[in-house]
Amino acid sequence: MKIFIDTADIEEIRTAISWGIVDGVTTNPTLIKKALQKYRGKISSMEEYIKEILRTAGRLRPVSLEVISTDKEKMVKEATILYEKFNYIANNVVVKIPINPNLGEGNDFDGVMAVKELKSLGIPTNVTLVMTPEQAVLAAKVGADYVSPFVGRIDDYLRAKVGIEFKKEDYFPSDGMEYDDELINDNGIVSGVHMLSIIKEIFANYRFSTKIIAASVRNARQVREILEIGCDVATIPFYVLKDMIKHTKTEEGMINFVKDVEFEYKEIFWKGE
Ligand code: E4P
Repeated sequence: MKIFIDTADIEEIRTAISWGIVDGVTTNPTLIKKALQKYRGKISSMEEYIKEILRTAGRLRPVSLEVISTDKEKMVKEATILYEKFNYIANNVVVKIPINPNLGEGNDFDGVMAVKELKSLGIPTNVTLVMTPEQAVLAAKVGADYVSPFVGRIDDYLRAKVGIEFKKEDYFPSDGMEYDDELINDNGIVSGVHMLSIIKEIFANYRFSTKIIAASVRNARQVREILEIGCDVATIPFYVLKDMIKHTKTEEGMINFVKDVEFEYKEIFWKGE
């Protein structure tokens, strides 16, 4: 099992890597925008900033960078640019391609076609914005290296469908939520974690080698449920990583241990210095 950090914030990436728990990084245009808002004026250029992320991640940690176009030819071109411009830094660039880039322009399958072509060019891909097992299968069929089902956004969608108010980090039960005596569902999917478990099962049925990255993760309990399924990767925001280490009884226990240290016991450590 691998943990990626879901951020484009260089300080968050550095800190989480220093904890020794991070195996990769995922970014998207929104995360890049957030980082730019924080570091604008402090960085020399976007290119240099991305190079710094890649260097910080290092050779063994893949970093996903997303394309910005919606048609196949442009996506392949952008993926090639990203790969040629940046992969030499640490040999860790993975290009993120939306499963369906359609903005009402009739190009539903351009993402799928782009992945297939990038596969033949040897450029690794992470298929993003996956909201159904069917989409995940299409990505796997054309040889995506990774597929990123958006767990939290499915939970958001299910709650929004019936008008339940929620905060982004709120827990959503993996076995679903009832509304008017019925499980809220999206074509049979009752939670983001449920979607993930179906993808995992289908990939196992057909021995797809595409790795599953649980994305759009919202809280520590959801991480636990993702890991129970046996996902290859969970890409986790910084605030959720920080939550994973916490428990009120751990804090209380620590305060008491420190309080209870006797002088004679302390002396052992002084003498050892
Ligand atoms: C990562 O690959 C995704 O872009 C990210 O997890 C989306 O998360 P969000 O739904 O919190 O924006």
